[in-house]
Amino acid sequence: MISRWCEFGNRDTSLRTQVVIIGAGPAGLLLSRLLSLKGIDNAVLERRSRAHVESRIRAGVLEPGTVELLIAARVADRMRREALTHDGFNLVFDGRYTHVDLKDLAGAPVTVYGQTEITQDLVAACLAANTKLVFEAEAVTPCDFEGATPRVTYAKDGQSHEIACDFIAGCDGFHGVCRASVPPAAITLYERVLPFGWLGMLTETRPVADELIYVRHERGFALCSMRSKTRSRYYVQVPDSDHVEAWPDARFWDELRRRIPGDAAERLITGPSLEKSIAPIRSFVAEPMRFGRLFLAGDAAHIVPPTGAKGLNLAAADAGALAQALASYYGSGEGMALESYSETRLRHVWRAERFSWWFTQMTHRFEGDAFATRLQQAEFDAVSGSRAFRTALAENYIGMFRDKSPS
Ligand code: PHB
Repeated sequence: MISRWCEFGNRDTSLRTQVVIIGAGPAGLLLSRLLSLKGIDNAVLERRSRAHVESRIRAGVLEPGTVELLIAARVADRMRREALTHDGFNLVFDGRYTHVDLKDLAGAPVTVYGQTEITQDLVAACLAANTKLVFEAEAVTPCDFEGATPRVTYAKDGQSHEIACDFIAGCDGFHGVCRASVPPAAITLYERVLPFGWLGMLTETRPVADELIYVRHERGFALCSMRSKTRSRYYVQVPDSDHVEAWPDARFWDELRRRIPGDAAERLITGPSLEKSIAPIRSFVAEPMRFGRLFLAGDAAHIVPPTGAKGLNLAAADAGALAQALASYYGSGEGMALESYSETRLRHVWRAERFSWWFTQMTHRFEGDAFATRLQQAEFDAVSGSRAFRTALAENYIGMFRDKSPS
């Protein structure tokens, strides 16, 4: 039997809301904030615990457009205080540096602020605004989204619940239930999985440089990133068959030191890891991003290799576009933006897929492919020798193409 859920955000006793958001990652939480600020009722259902959601270590580079969205969502106070502004980054090919000056080439810097912090800020803002945010919701199921009266069922503490709604937002990640609920015939999947992963390590140590360093090295890719002036995030490319257990801290530091340029290696400060994990490297797009009244956003619809730092930014842009489309639907009854959500977002998504794929191809080691290695050399020569090439790289990196049609 289904028990009726009767306390809605401490102020409503209905079991109905306008938008049910499945997933409390950055896409879902940001969407919830933007909708709430536009007066659109919503509820967020999350399978994992609050502690789990708030401690996941993920990306850390924000495009200017993502920063704008966080400001619009009124969750930018801590970011303004703690984030770092990076005017550029370094690209290193077999020990040779090329600086990519984002501000000079593309007119804007990026902001370094962890997804972990963003998630915490969003959760705090949602709870402060009395948003219905249910953690540890089990068996969350989007239902009847092909018709006019969708609903979402779930269980919590042994009780079954059902929420009727106008729309469902599937923000529940690559492995989530939303995309999996769509009939296979209605969806086309595009995927490329690369035979390696990124082993990432977070440490409470001063970063090796003021800006990020992306390294192409014959032993494999490496990235020196950071979360603050005292917290570093480093990555090394590893075979996809590798396990974290095979990488004690000392081995990680050793491998990183061998791949990064000599001057950086000299400055490298090592310390115990706060977190260490291996992320697979995959390109993935599901089309379309809308099925009746179910809209997908973030990793539920697309995955990019992390090289271009686009995953979080795409998720935020999806949330921003969906919030706007829903606001115009509820504001004026205008459904055009909802109708075109999938097409508009997919154009942006594929731009980011292209860029992330290209950047990955240029900087990673492809075992036994001498032709690819020679192309990488030529690619790097083009980038280091041509302002036009660097400008294209910089524009893509800061996400200048966001929401623009291809010209
Ligand atoms: C990170 O700091 O986690 C990071 C930075 C840049 C990337 C990917 C990940 O391209």
